[in-house]
Amino acid sequence: FEVSWDAAAAEKGGWSSFMAKEVAEQPEAVANTIRGRVQGDQVVIPELDGLDDLFTGIRRVIITACGTASYAALVGKYAIEQWARVPVDVELAHEFRYRDPVIGDDTLVVSISQSGETMDTLMAVKYARERGARTLSVCNTQGATIPRESDAVVYTHAGPEVAVASTKAFSAQITALLLLGLHMGRVRGSLDASAADVVAELQELPEKVAQVLADETEHVSQLAGWMADTRSVLFLGRHVGYPIALEGALKLKEISYIHAEGFAAGELKHGPIALIEPGQPVFVIVPSPRHSALIHSKVVSNIQEIRARGARVIVVAEEGDAAVLPYADEVIRIPLASPLLEPLLAVVPLQIFAMALATAKGLDVDQPRNLAKSVTVE
Ligand code: G6P
Repeated sequence: FEVSWDAAAAEKGGWSSFMAKEVAEQPEAVANTIRGRVQGDQVVIPELDGLDDLFTGIRRVIITACGTASYAALVGKYAIEQWARVPVDVELAHEFRYRDPVIGDDTLVVSISQSGETMDTLMAVKYARERGARTLSVCNTQGATIPRESDAVVYTHAGPEVAVASTKAFSAQITALLLLGLHMGRVRGSLDASAADVVAELQELPEKVAQVLADETEHVSQLAGWMADTRSVLFLGRHVGYPIALEGALKLKEISYIHAEGFAAGELKHGPIALIEPGQPVFVIVPSPRHSALIHSKVVSNIQEIRARGARVIVVAEEGDAAVLPYADEVIRIPLASPLLEPLLAVVPLQIFAMALATAKGLDVDQPRNLAKSVTVE
């Protein structure tokens, strides 16, 4: 008599893949990253206690990372600039040190890495330190090399991520960067009254992420099933929707081996619109009209332009946004949120789409070809 027991299946806790499990764990990852870092209507990150010097007297911030973490960095740029009122540049780690960047002790270099072991990112951090910059890492792995080489660390508490394509770590990175922006803004005295509302709203985020999962998983999976033969998918976004378009395209490339590109929606007319031919699927991340009627209307007119050329338009828009309906072939809904919190909701359907499409093609979503979870060579 033999008891058959599959260790890998047991670890997945009933999920078909680690990626499916990790996508589903995002509400918890976001909640765990926020926990213990909000006091009343303020963000206070205990790990940064006594380190105000990192944030005062700086003239610029550079965020450096690779892959998915570099897209979280692009969202972080908006958060830090808005709340801490300091200019932020985002640099791919492997580009950063192969030129002569203008950095010194007035520069804070923030690195982002799930593993904390990515060699390109580690070398960028070391280089920044040698040049006298202050360094802070956002990392998901306790005691990893990058945090050890940095002046400070803000851990994401997403829990171990096994699937090669990053999902819950990405959500936790964005969450940590929102917290960092609010923490820095408090220390620098640059927050306005609206920051307290965002802090209150942070607490609702896990629930909103859970709502997207509950409402859209089936719909988006079905959509992916219909599109299993698609050869190319484009993603458009504006403002913080732009990094989400890039991440949506990366997820699809990584696990379903489909050609995918993300573009800033405003860039469309400067080139990418030439790619649009009848039937071309295009995801468009639509920003809320409540935040900026202007930005919203620009994205809606981008949708009209591609629709007129025959694109198959799949829109990710907030609940109640009716302006997109006449031009959308499919509408994926996300709950209402403040502008900088929207990326955390908009990315979820794109992750599900990539996963479902890869599954429909019979691919192993956890172990995509040619990729490693952590790239420890330069
Ligand atoms: C590899 C992984 C990507 C990841 C990137 C950065 O390329 O395949 O999924 O985004 O490394 O990893 P890190 O651990 O530094 O966040």
